Amino acid sequence: MNNKPLLWVLGGGAFAFVAVVSYWIFALTLANQMKSDLLPPDKAAAYIHAVIEASRTVYTEHVVGKLHQAGLAEAIEHWRDENGVPLPAQFLLESGRLVSQKNLKLSFRLASLLPTYAWNGPTTDFERKGLDAVGKDPSKPVGGFVRIDGGRYYQAIYPDRAVTQSCVTCHNQHPNSLRRDYKIGDVMGGIIITIPIDLP
Ligand code: HEC
Repeated sequence: MNNKPLLWVLGGGAFAFVAVVSYWIFALTLANQMKSDLLPPDKAAAYIHAVIEASRTVYTEHVVGKLHQAGLAEAIEHWRDENGVPLPAQFLLESGRLVSQKNLKLSFRLASLLPTYAWNGPTTDFERKGLDAVGKDPSKPVGGFVRIDGGRYYQAIYPDRAVTQSCVTCHNQHPNSLRRDYKIGDVMGGIIITIPIDLP
């Protein structure tokens, strides 16, 4: 009996099976490797947050602090119309405004559930829940994927705490303040960072 055709079929089948399995393993390995090559969005947000925080601290300590000590100028809210320089909160908000004017779809701002001005309040349910969560547990930021105007974004909300007495005094005394019992260490709001994740 001639078994040659059967052998060919069996051999071909075995070869195809091995080829499919090898391709599958190769594809999985490649996908895994590519995954670890990408920067996770929560890490990207952590990098951006570190830069924002560092420039705000440098501005507060080395610019506002020094101008005050030298009696040269004060950080005041109405710095555009009066003789003074922006408050650290306004420095951050202004930088955020400049960044959002670039075509990067990246944005960041200071916000609170009890904002001095309504424009610093949460704009979505995710922001409201995130600000609430960092207010209750400031040990870590809150993050998640959101959709804004059809685009996919990663949003991270970092707690913003009253680190000095001046945060407490100014916010408790501000005519617009919705809360007047802040103490040092309290979470006063959060820094919301929004990063686009589906780039063209
Ligand atoms: C001299 C007054 C003053 C000081 C000091 C000050 N802030 Fe503010 N803060 C403001 C004003 C005014 C705004 C609103 C700015 C705007 O939207 O133009 C604001 C905004 C904020 C917001 C956004 C939510 C809101 O209330 O509108 C947070 C959060 C915040 N400040 C936290 C802090 C922290 C933390 C400190 C200390 C490190 C601090 N602030 C120091 C006056 C002050």
